[in-house]
Amino acid sequence: MDTRPNSFFPDQPQFSGFMKPCRLEGEIQALEIHGDIPKDINGTFYRVMPDPQLPPFIEDDPWFNGDGNISAFEIKDGSVSFRQRYVRTEKFVREREAKRALIGKYRNKYTDAVDFKVRTTANTNVVFFNGQLLAVKEDAPPYALDPISLETKGLYDFDGQLPSLTFTAHPKFDPVTGEMICFGYEAKGDGTPDVCYYNVAPDGKLTEVVWLVAPVVAMIHDFAVTDNWVLFPIIPQVCDIERLKQGGEHWQWSPQTPFYIGVLPRRGAKTSDVKEDESGNIHIDLGLSEKNVFFWWPDAKGNAPEPSSILSQLVRFTINPRSDDLNLPTPKILQKDNSEFYRIDDRFATHRYRHCFFDLMDPSLGKDFARIGPKLGGGYPLYNSLAHVDITTGSTDIYFPGKTHMVQEPVFIPRGGFHYRRRWLRLGTGQ
Ligand SMILES: [Fe+2]
Repeated sequence: MDTRPNSFFPDQPQFSGFMKPCRLEGEIQALEIHGDIPKDINGTFYRVMPDPQLPPFIEDDPWFNGDGNISAFEIKDGSVSFRQRYVRTEKFVREREAKRALIGKYRNKYTDAVDFKVRTTANTNVVFFNGQLLAVKEDAPPYALDPISLETKGLYDFDGQLPSLTFTAHPKFDPVTGEMICFGYEAKGDGTPDVCYYNVAPDGKLTEVVWLVAPVVAMIHDFAVTDNWVLFPIIPQVCDIERLKQGGEHWQWSPQTPFYIGVLPRRGAKTSDVKEDESGNIHIDLGLSEKNVFFWWPDAKGNAPEPSSILSQLVRFTINPRSDDLNLPTPKILQKDNSEFYRIDDRFATHRYRHCFFDLMDPSLGKDFARIGPKLGGGYPLYNSLAHVDITTGSTDIYFPGKTHMVQEPVFIPRGGFHYRRRWLRLGTGQ
């Protein structure tokens, strides 16, 4: 592979328009505000975005490979101050020193220009737990940051307790127990089927460590947690170590691989006598598509769907965890329109909820693609409105910002009187 440095970013959608690398660190006091920010919003909105520090040497590098750059928007009395700083990952520090890209393909160490100990970009999510602001990506341990200055403290292994080589970009937070529920997949290294599940108590102690072996080595990007169960949806994007060694992609869409949901008792000793609802079933709600939503990682023949043809719906699987039938039931469609980035009020995390907020593509409202396309970069604008569905009644409310605007992942802030254990967002990533 040609690892010679490039001195400028390629003229490709993922580096153009809205997606042009920002590469800025600094702070601005009293941001301009159009309109009014409600006075009772008081806190810091943390965002992480993939923001490549230096032009890649590989061809058509996906934006998932950009360096994690953290923004903090401190909101108080209707005004906002802003600070932004890159996570000092090993990759970032060594590339800055070399003044050139050293990392190769997304999650393929065999394509790197040098050997890294940890090659993560820490670019997917930022969460606050037990006094630590953690920048996370699913391929490595978190990096801990100072929540005020955003300075990087270093890799965070939970005081030596971290059992796996990987962490998740989407840990869950139990609002009642204060626990952070986590897992890592490819947890013993690239291409391994091992999954490690663990809980972290509010004081930072690991309370559960369970090792599992997945039926396929495939993407487990997010997961779901209830009072008593942990569920791992396994997306049929598969990894093959031999393909990696040959310089191929980490992920390949595999239409023949079933969609699995792994179900595990959250606490080994207490599950048998606890029920989830009247019938003892588990409900898991998630976005589901028949097609490959990660269309930039095609199948073995190079096939990928045309992005505008992808329909992702909010569906509910109802699973009886004690049944011997391992076939997934047909899911119920909770919201039929094309949607993604579902969020709920975090105070209801791990429990029954009623209100779901999400990004929606409502074709009847339209979108001026010709006008926004050239400014957009990054590909196809999938969503044109913010929506709320009441799971109990099935009714949907829609906020449409206009044909030349886009939306990103919604953020729920409870009105007054509630102090978040954590305050976090990932507005800019869309991952
Ligand atoms: Fe995600």
